[in-house]
Order: sequence, then C-alpha cells, then structure tokens
Amino acid sequence: MREYRRPVQWWRDAVGYQVYVPSFADSNGDGWGDLPGVTSRLDHLSDLGVNLLWLSPIHPSPFADHGYDVADYLTVDPRFGTVADAERLVAAAADRGIRVLLDLVPNHTSTAHPWFRAARRSRDDPHRDYYHWSDGDPPNNWVSAFGGPAWTRDELTGQSYLHLFAADQPDLNWRNPAVAAEFDAILRTWLDRGFAGFRIDVPHVMSKHPDLLDNPAIPADLVAPDERGRVEWNSFEHLYDRDQPDIGDIFRRWRAVTDPYDAFLLGEVSLLDPVRLARYTAPGALHACFWFGLVRRGWEPAALASWIRSAATDVPGLVWVLSSHDRSRAVSRYGGGAVGRRRALVLSTATIGLPDLPLLYQGEELGLDDVHIPLDEAQDPLVRFGGGTFARDAVRTPMPWRPGPGLGFTTASRAWIAFGDRGPADTVAVQAADPASPLSAYRRLIALRRASPSLRSGAVEWLDAPAEVLAYRRGDCVVVANLGVSPQSLALPDGTWRVAFATSTVDGVVPGETAVVFRRE
Ligand code: GLC
Repeated sequence: MREYRRPVQWWRDAVGYQVYVPSFADSNGDGWGDLPGVTSRLDHLSDLGVNLLWLSPIHPSPFADHGYDVADYLTVDPRFGTVADAERLVAAAADRGIRVLLDLVPNHTSTAHPWFRAARRSRDDPHRDYYHWSDGDPPNNWVSAFGGPAWTRDELTGQSYLHLFAADQPDLNWRNPAVAAEFDAILRTWLDRGFAGFRIDVPHVMSKHPDLLDNPAIPADLVAPDERGRVEWNSFEHLYDRDQPDIGDIFRRWRAVTDPYDAFLLGEVSLLDPVRLARYTAPGALHACFWFGLVRRGWEPAALASWIRSAATDVPGLVWVLSSHDRSRAVSRYGGGAVGRRRALVLSTATIGLPDLPLLYQGEELGLDDVHIPLDEAQDPLVRFGGGTFARDAVRTPMPWRPGPGLGFTTASRAWIAFGDRGPADTVAVQAADPASPLSAYRRLIALRRASPSLRSGAVEWLDAPAEVLAYRRGDCVVVANLGVSPQSLALPDGTWRVAFATSTVDGVVPGETAVVFRRE
C-alpha cells in the first residue's frame, strides 16, 4: 500500500527572524558580520523568542548586489566563514530550538559563476544554454528591476544575455533540465548540512515567456514612481518576463527533493494580487510566501486594515513582514521616531495571530529607524543603475548591540558599511534593561504567541469593526488593532476576556493607534 506523508507544518508554530549576515555580528574584527558572529548572538534570538532564522546569502560572491550575485552555491564566502561554521551555527541554533533557512538565489547567478564564465566563452559551450542568449541588442523591451535594459551584449559571441537585475546577475534558463538538476543537488547539499529549508529569492521571475515577447508599455501619464523611486520598471505591464503559468512545475520538482527532509520553502514573491499570489502557495507548490503589502505602504489605517484582512482570507500560507533588507524600515515608513515605533508595534501586534507566521527583520525588535546615507555614497545597485532613489544601504547598517565604538558589532574602526547614528537607547544592552523599551515589548508579544496555541492554529474569525480597525478571534484569543486615531469601544464575543498584551493602556475602550490581544479567562 502506498504511504502518504503528513503535510509539513512545523513552521506554522514559528516566529521568524531575518539575519542580514554582513551586518549582524563580526567575530574576527574585519568589519564584516560572519557566521561565528551569528552563533555568538543566538542567545539574543532565543531571549526574543524567535525559533526560525533566515540567513541572507552567505555564498562566495563579488557582492555586486550584496550577495544576491552568487559565484558558488555549494560553499560559504570566506568573509562569512566556512561550511563548518554554517554547520556549527545550525547545530547551536538547534540546541535552542531554532531552525535555520538558507537564502537560495535560483533566478540568476553572478557573472563570476563558473557556469556563466564557461557559457560566455562560445555559443557551443555546454553551459551556454544555462542562460538566456539572444541576437539583437537588445532583442526585446524588457528592463532590469534596477534600471536600464534587461539585456547586455557580450562582445565575444555577439549575443546579448538576459538579466532582470544587475548586468552582473545573468538570469538562469529554467527551461533547461540541466539547470533544474544542478539545483536539486544544491538543495540536497544544504539540507544534508542541517538547514531546515530555504527562503527563495524572486521565484516569480524564474519562468519567462518562451518567445520573449515584448511587455506592453503603460502610457506615461499613468506611470508613477514606486516607493523606492523606480519609474522605468513600472512603465511596463510585466506580462512576459515573470509569473508564467508553468512556474509551479519548478516548485513541484523541488518538493519531491525537499519533502523527505520536512523542509520549509518560503518564497519572496513580490506580487500582491491575492489570486496570483495564491498560485505560489497552492498544494504541492511553495509552503508560504511573504506578504509585501505592509512593506510597500505607509501609514494608511483603513487601507492597511482592509488589505491585511483580504490577504489573510484569500492567500493560504503567508509570512507577515513589516520590514526587510530591501525596503525602508517600518518605523521610518510610519512616521519615524516614537510615532513610527508605536505604529510598527501596533501592526506587529495586529498580525501576531494571523496564519501562518510573523517574521521580524533584524533591529525591528529595537524599533530602529532607517539610517541616512547620502545617495552618492550608496553601494546599492538599485541606485547605481539609476533605477531608484531609495538606497537599501539605509536598512543594512550594523546591528547596535551596545553603546560605544563599533556598537558591539565589530572591534574594527570601520565596518563594510556606515554605522549610522545609532544612540545608546537603540542598543540591545540598554533596551534589555528597560521594561518600557521596544525590545521588552517584542519579547512579551512573541512570548504570548509562543505560549498561546490559539494564536498559531485554528480558523481566523473576523469580527465586525469600523474600517480603521482590524479585529479577529482565533480560538480563545481576540486581537484588536485600532489603527485610526479615535478611541473605539468594541463588543467582544461572549465570555470574560483579559488583556494579555497591549501596546498602550486599555481601559474599556481601545485608544487610537493601539493594539490589544485579549485572552479568554
Ligand atoms: C530580492 C532580494 C534583493 C535582491 C534581488 C535580486 O528581491 O531580496 O535584495 O537585490 O532579489 O536578487
């Protein structure tokens, strides 16, 4: 008789945390964060209550896009340590009940990857078809997400190669079975090393239309810059360079490799249309996708409440994020300083009980703002290629562990990126000793989720609420987030309800910009 595996679900119980490795902790004083540094700071993560760690890319890379340009998928860049360091980190995390995800970048390699080096040597090279080559300069109207054409002509063979990001990041040809086979082996290698799964970089662009058709242009008067100042990318309807109907074939193939390990596949799909997004988390595809509705928006109470509600209702398998290494931090987007911190905590509380899990970006638990880095000093290709006015450097600066030079991040006098103007009150050491700090609040909030099965399982029941209020019940918990400014009194379901967590004092009514978790007595 055929045996069926139970669906993989351990991650539904998790609280996630993104470690941006170059900026987390530097163990050897070279100004770069590294894997032994992460291992040395695991207690911070267990004290915070997180049990799922996503590491930003750790592979050898020329760093043209901060590691998202991979030159070897099977090893670790010496600036971050060794494979043995990665295995030690995974083991030390497991001792604390924390699982670790690797960042997998399957859409493109670096031009320094041996596959591309071989491919560009001749049209007949066996690796040529690992990438997209075409006559014409450029052969269609596709643009890079970082600005400029998506094709670069390679003089040696007189053809152009495709890169939906920087010219240093040629796109892989996923219609070539040899590429798929390479990645099967890459997945197995890291799962055998103890990783619990993968955060998958831009999976929605892996499959392109086979005829490389032109994308329809959007009339200029309808095009507006997005929140990172990009215009060119938004001037086209991306019908043919991403989100093709056969994309699910790749995920099904991966699942056959990864399911025997009970591994978690988390997609960085930046589509917001629930119908399109839900295809990525359909049965047999990825387990979950980030929902980027929050990182894309400022403080728009009614819109946020309705977006959260519809995404949570229509898309199975969501990971709730307010910040990342790619966007302005929530605190800055929501008004900065104390106002931004209050609002960010309100939204973190609002999403604490939504399926499937919340995930924090390093420093979010400290209520950090963006650091100001002048555009002409930015390393970010998004700015260097002229496609954006927001430099992601602003959210990639070192983690402030304690006051003083180097912030406890490094003993070096300089880091690979500016330290920023972090003050003592931004640091883990100072906040850990202050019960009123953001760190203390996030610890309490996460501890509540970890201690409340109701916030992690069962159906979400939406409660009637005004437009600027998000209110739902999950088992013996009710979460109410009043994003508006007017106080709201709400009729809770029958029973006696106790405040288990609140972002400010609640006395009969829920004040403006306040979120509360109630638990039934
Ligand atoms: C993803 C990464 C981003 C990178 C891009 C290209 O969006 O999060 O940092 O620049 O993919 O790999």
